[in-house]
Amino acid sequence: MKPTAELSHEHQTILRMIRVLDKMAGRLAAGAAVDPDDLDRAVAFIRGFADKCHHAKEEGYLFPEMEKAGIPRDGGPIGVMLADHVKGRAHAAAMAGAIPGIRTGDGDAAEIFGAEARGYSGLLTQHIFKEDHILYPMADARLTPDQQAILEACFADVEQNVIGEAQHEEFHRLLERLEKAYPV
Ligand SMILES: [Fe+2]
Ligand SMILES: [Fe+2]
Repeated sequence: MKPTAELSHEHQTILRMIRVLDKMAGRLAAGAAVDPDDLDRAVAFIRGFADKCHHAKEEGYLFPEMEKAGIPRDGGPIGVMLADHVKGRAHAAAMAGAIPGIRTGDGDAAEIFGAEARGYSGLLTQHIFKEDHILYPMADARLTPDQQAILEACFADVEQNVIGEAQHEEFHRLLERLEKAYPV
């Protein structure tokens, strides 16, 4: 699979978890209880799958290869994407920070989690649109076949050595379970 196609495929998986998060935020906003363990799991997915795996492929390999191809990091789309990743991490940290309070029944903590989840959802939905429709087509047009081959090998290495096949499958099982528990 072409490296950007692999990343776009991962976007679809991330968007599925964002829909679960939106549902959780909606329930919290309505004053309904959401199992804090599920909130923990959703945040672990965002940090593990979206950030550690997907963003690692972009920041560690795709963006540097694009820079080598003459696309500047600062003042261009790569810089904007990196800034989005930083904002996403802040939302994830704030969600994680609210969970202990939710466990003790703190309504303010539930409100914070909901607001941060919505913030993450809006940010990442737009971010994914920009990558799929602007950044990745730019990469496909500018990267040489050799660079594409390097990316393919590096992405395979991330899958094997950073995440591992067992963990990857575990993320997908978790997503399916949460989708059933929080149907759209
Ligand atoms: Fe990204
Ligand atoms: Fe991405």
